[in-house]
Amino acid sequence: MSWLAKLRQSRVYQSIFRVPILKDRRHKVLVILSTFVLHVHPVTIPRYALRLRHTWCMGGLAFFLFLVEVVTGVLLMFYYRPVPGMAYQDMWELRSSVTFGIFREVHRWAAHAMVIVVILHMLRVFLTGSYRPPREFNWVIGVALLVLTLLLSFTGYLLPWDQLSLWAATVGTNMVAASPFVGCEGPGSQWITWHGSPLITRQSDLRYFLLGSSQIDDVALNRFYVWHCIGLPILMTFLCALHFWRVRKDGRISGPL
Ligand code: HEM
Repeated sequence: MSWLAKLRQSRVYQSIFRVPILKDRRHKVLVILSTFVLHVHPVTIPRYALRLRHTWCMGGLAFFLFLVEVVTGVLLMFYYRPVPGMAYQDMWELRSSVTFGIFREVHRWAAHAMVIVVILHMLRVFLTGSYRPPREFNWVIGVALLVLTLLLSFTGYLLPWDQLSLWAATVGTNMVAASPFVGCEGPGSQWITWHGSPLITRQSDLRYFLLGSSQIDDVALNRFYVWHCIGLPILMTFLCALHFWRVRKDGRISGPL
């Protein structure tokens, strides 16, 4: 008996892959439906869904780039310290003297590529009319994914803590301060009051929440770091899972027009 046959007969193997993997189609369907690891795959895929001409492969590529960002980002976390006075130096050393510091460049370039690829994916969904029923809710999830991609890109841009970062943080958070209702300088914020005194002030608006202070300092860098490395990636993972599940439940990806 070959080692493969022995492995397939072992208890460990059979506890994971409950149904023997046989070559005929009915058995393949059974294996996919009853195995946790394989149930992520659809049982059947229409031929057009594999054509590059139809999907441009942009959705899959966007997800691949997200995975690249997660892996390289975790490696960067071993080295980078989100403290003013160290952040820029750490980033610089990652580029020049740290072993495998190339991951920093990969992280940065993959981030730029992800923004472009997600926009191209949205364009292909739009051009194929795939935003129409029954996929309208998945389009809405997609818009949230686009916003998350841009927020990840923005928060990452601030982490080197150089002049570009400081001014990007200044402009970005001033825009938040000027946003309707949530920013202290935005229209409508003066209407939100409690016992006659305004609720949305310089010390309580969304800008303050983002910076953790009324100015851009070490607290702000820490907040951006936590959003970038924990908050936003968790939200992104959850929404990607929902997005892929909806693709399946909406009757797989749309066919050619
Ligand atoms: C991180 C960002 C995103 C990832 C990882 C992602 C991933 C995917 C994947 C893998 C598919 C199936 C294959 C394909 O169509 O390429 C898909 C389909 C879809 N996506 Fe996205 N997507 C993202 C962002 C967006 C955005 C920004 C929108 C639109 C605003 C969107 C709307 C849709 C819709 C409506 C479908 C179904 C298309 C169809 O049935 O033909 N997605 N997405």
